Amino acid sequence: MANEEDPKARARVAAAARALDEVEPGMAIGLGSGRAVDAVIEAIAGKWPDGPPVRAAVAAPRTEEAARAAGIDVVALDGSFRLDVVIDGADEVGPSLELVKGGGGALLREKLLVSASDRFVVVAEAEKRVARLGETQRLPVEVVRFAWEDTQRRLRETLEEPTLREGEDGEPFETDEGHFLLDCLIPSSPGLVALEERLNGTTGVVEHGLFLDSADAVVVGGPDGGVETLTR
Ligand code: A5P
Repeated sequence: MANEEDPKARARVAAAARALDEVEPGMAIGLGSGRAVDAVIEAIAGKWPDGPPVRAAVAAPRTEEAARAAGIDVVALDGSFRLDVVIDGADEVGPSLELVKGGGGALLREKLLVSASDRFVVVAEAEKRVARLGETQRLPVEVVRFAWEDTQRRLRETLEEPTLREGEDGEPFETDEGHFLLDCLIPSSPGLVALEERLNGTTGVVEHGLFLDSADAVVVGGPDGGVETLTR
């Protein structure tokens, strides 16, 4: 249950409630991961306490657990259908709705959900808005474990300080797909499109947390509970 005393939690709850406008009975939805998604699941459960009339593909075990607890029918993204809408959080939201995601480590599966969806709606607190991506967060880059240090060396040609993410136990953090993450500073040049191209062409990189042209709307919650929807 979100802590209503916490302004960020209040912002997420308000934005999540507004994002429910995107969800209609009969839809197949995608749910990413993180606190914003937890708030969305709580909102869905609150709106349809007798069982939400939607099915959902989910990006992470924690999301699956919460969705099932809310009575949502969790389904595999098996290629036989497309998603109507994906709802997910973000770590940073730029002026053109470009995003940094992957703070929680689930960026690959989240990107797969978005690729399978007709619409992508982000739920974020106002403080996630930035003038330039990389202002407040590092960019997570998911890399294969084999020869990861060599991929790290190649990444230094594109991004600054690629740093292996560690778990609480001090061991390398492993994604749900068994890869490692390198958290990197985003340089001010080249531009983001060129940066994305370079990352997509770097051997050893599985995926990265840049979501440049994918969000259709960002529902921004303020600490006072106000909500603003940004669209392209
Ligand atoms: C998970 O890896 C991320 O992409 C999340 O969507 C992002 O970190 C935002 O998480 P919160 O909603 O918890 O801030």
